[in-house]
Amino acid sequence: TYVVTDNCIRCKYMDCVEVCPVDCFYEGDNMLVIHPDECIDCGVCEPECPAEAISPDTEPNLDKWLKVNAEYAEKWPNITIKRDPPADHKEFDGEEGKFEKYFS
Ligand code: SF4
Ligand code: F3S
Repeated sequence: TYVVTDNCIRCKYMDCVEVCPVDCFYEGDNMLVIHPDECIDCGVCEPECPAEAISPDTEPNLDKWLKVNAEYAEKWPNITIKRDPPADHKEFDGEEGKFEKYFS
């Protein structure tokens, strides 16, 4: 599966949802996650994310993010249509430790 990681938080571009062939993105207040049981590993979302927040879970040190994606994909609603990102999203691009500060 692919996973959404820290830099999505408060950037939330939503370009990813437009390209996913199986519509497996789920939406929290300031981040999206991928449902690991629905993702077919096609990889098309990874280069579409302007925040470079999507990675395959075969990359190292993504255990925490796999858990976050799996847990919240079950709790949050599905999202298939891109909307405008938050007005201040550029301010948060690249900030460290966004999960601890802002995750919701
Ligand atoms: Fe969707 Fe493919 Fe990205 Fe998985 S890798 S979330 S199936 S676009
Ligand atoms: Fe987040 Fe990137 Fe999608 S910032 S909403 S994973 S396009």
